[in-house]
Amino acid sequence: MVIPQHIQDKMYHPPDDLRRDAHVPNFNSYLSLYKKSLENPEAFWKEVAEEFFWEKPATGPMLQYNFDVTKGNIYVKCMEGAKTNMCYNVLDRNVKENNLAEKIAYYWEGNSPDHHMAITYSDLLKQVCRCANVLKEMGVKKGDRVAIYLPMIPELVYTMLACTRIGAVHSIVFAGFSSESLCERITDAQCSILVTADGVYRGEKLINLKQIADEALEKCRDKSSPAVTKCLVVKHHATTTKSGVACNKLQTPWDPECDVWWDEAMRDTPEDCEPEWLDAEDPLFILYTSGSTGKPKGVLHTVAGYMLYTSLTFKYVFDHHHDDVYWCTADIGWITGHSYITYGPLANGATSVIFEGIPVHPHAGRFWEIIEKYNVTKFYTAPTAIRLLMKYGKEPLLKYDLSSLRILGTVGEPINPEAWHWYHEVVGQGRCPVVDTFWQTETGGHVLTPLPAATPLKPGSATFPFFGVEPTILNEHGEELEGEAEGYLVFRRPWPGIMRTVYRNQERFENTYFKKFPGFYVTGDGCRRDKDGYYWITGRIDDMLNVSGHLMSTAEVEAALTEHAAVAEAAVVSRPHTVKGECLYCFVTLKDHREFNHSLAEELKGLVRERIGPIATPDFIQNAPALPKTRSGKIMRRVLRQIARNESDLGDLSTLADPKVVEVLFSQRCQATS
Ligand code: WT7
Repeated sequence: MVIPQHIQDKMYHPPDDLRRDAHVPNFNSYLSLYKKSLENPEAFWKEVAEEFFWEKPATGPMLQYNFDVTKGNIYVKCMEGAKTNMCYNVLDRNVKENNLAEKIAYYWEGNSPDHHMAITYSDLLKQVCRCANVLKEMGVKKGDRVAIYLPMIPELVYTMLACTRIGAVHSIVFAGFSSESLCERITDAQCSILVTADGVYRGEKLINLKQIADEALEKCRDKSSPAVTKCLVVKHHATTTKSGVACNKLQTPWDPECDVWWDEAMRDTPEDCEPEWLDAEDPLFILYTSGSTGKPKGVLHTVAGYMLYTSLTFKYVFDHHHDDVYWCTADIGWITGHSYITYGPLANGATSVIFEGIPVHPHAGRFWEIIEKYNVTKFYTAPTAIRLLMKYGKEPLLKYDLSSLRILGTVGEPINPEAWHWYHEVVGQGRCPVVDTFWQTETGGHVLTPLPAATPLKPGSATFPFFGVEPTILNEHGEELEGEAEGYLVFRRPWPGIMRTVYRNQERFENTYFKKFPGFYVTGDGCRRDKDGYYWITGRIDDMLNVSGHLMSTAEVEAALTEHAAVAEAAVVSRPHTVKGECLYCFVTLKDHREFNHSLAEELKGLVRERIGPIATPDFIQNAPALPKTRSGKIMRRVLRQIARNESDLGDLSTLADPKVVEVLFSQRCQATS
């Protein structure tokens, strides 16, 4: 691939000083490495694997797979026969072989600026070993599932790595999820232990996490799946002292049969713990992601492939060097945190910031304050955060010195050019390349992304594939489209970090990702390739919504709405939102004799919030005397989407059973504010 000079002239090029010591210093070196990764994946990945410790070498090839449902079951295997341990590789190897014992692994910065600490690689190893011993003491064995429902505190990293060390499979549930969502995930993964905290401050708000966790366990019991035997509870120091002043607002519910305080359990526990040597394809973790049927899917990742892939993408995409201070603002409860706060950075011996708080507390300059405080060199956040901070203008930024920054990254949704330019020019002062990384919970790591010193950038494009990744674009009939084109984004072959299955549901795995176009992994995203070969993600093409970078299915929100006694039917679509990217616009048809009013709308919003979590709170609820349906009874979501977006040209309505329904809905549509 050659990008013509006149086009190159118009692009954003990496600065020379970044190129000088970059791992991939120019576009040609990207192209030749990319070519090698596709033509000789065996040699390419073998070289990557050499960096790591293997208790037993592989007996099989680097990658084996079947991607074609018509030829049998879908599978991917990486380095069959090898034995290793992820925790050993990210901690012990760095402490013992790479001399990083005293290097800072994490700067932890609390919700309140008064709370912070630094954790070295050797501290981290000790805490992880102690926690591993506590889990073993509680009866956790290799292969057992441990649910983790914790805020962004160091104990979250200790617990996940402790699981990894003893071969237990962690299932982390974002601590903003409701008790219902937590219960659903605990039940599906049949977790035997739950690790949580008494509470957490998010901004000014104190949240009683233990209470939510208890409600979840209660619900699990109702579903007669009382698999959880012990609940390990971290006492969050912010819940007892605020700015050094004791405060005791939390009532922590306690069941002495089940509950164990973290500090008490850790107190006299030894600081060493032998790692469990796992097979390359043993499970590493489960992470739930929304599915279009409404029931979340337990995405399963395995040890060796995920280790190689997150480590390599971190090194190249953030062009990691040992003196870097890297900060990813995601929560570890999402895949971004798993891959690019915990595993990828630690595998590279990096120093990272972990931030517990929110961007605008106690002031709108909080992010910039932290960048200055720790001299952050690589900064990774989401378009929704950028758009939120843009609203506060340049003032909060100008108070801080951001000259340490060298590379900026984004993830989670397409970035609009306005936000891209603000990020590049105002935050990065025009000096820092913006790596727009496209990937999914399922892909394990970045799959389409620029390399900061090599790839000329176009604002809004995730540019080109990472090493080992072969994207293509298909039309509705499954035909491959060459050159300039738009269609379904699919991948023709696996890379080491791709998911292996949906936990306990191989059938759903194959149906969701491989059935529509045999021979390909289907992302569910639309994509355009421009004349220079750049890829542009155009958004989801299934019934999924992306609110603030979080995927959710219309079906799960509809299911929550129809739980309400007044609701007969519900249909949920997305509407563009200046900060969140998309927001939820819900049409509800009420049962006979029920009246729609403001308080019912608020009740419905509360219900969705309670069932799924605050991130899913609808912005709009519209009363729909009837929904637009085809003669076969299928809801025409396209029309609802257009109404929600205030579009008056509703296109072809001839397949509708009753076109009058649309007029009514359009005339009663919700206006700008909810
Ligand atoms: C979906 C995956 C991967 C971590 C965060 C989300 C959208 C993600 C981008 C991007 C355009 C993006 C896609 C994708 N998405 N990154 N750079 N540009 N869209 O993980 O919850 O599994 O969501 O997020 O629609 O399929 P996830």
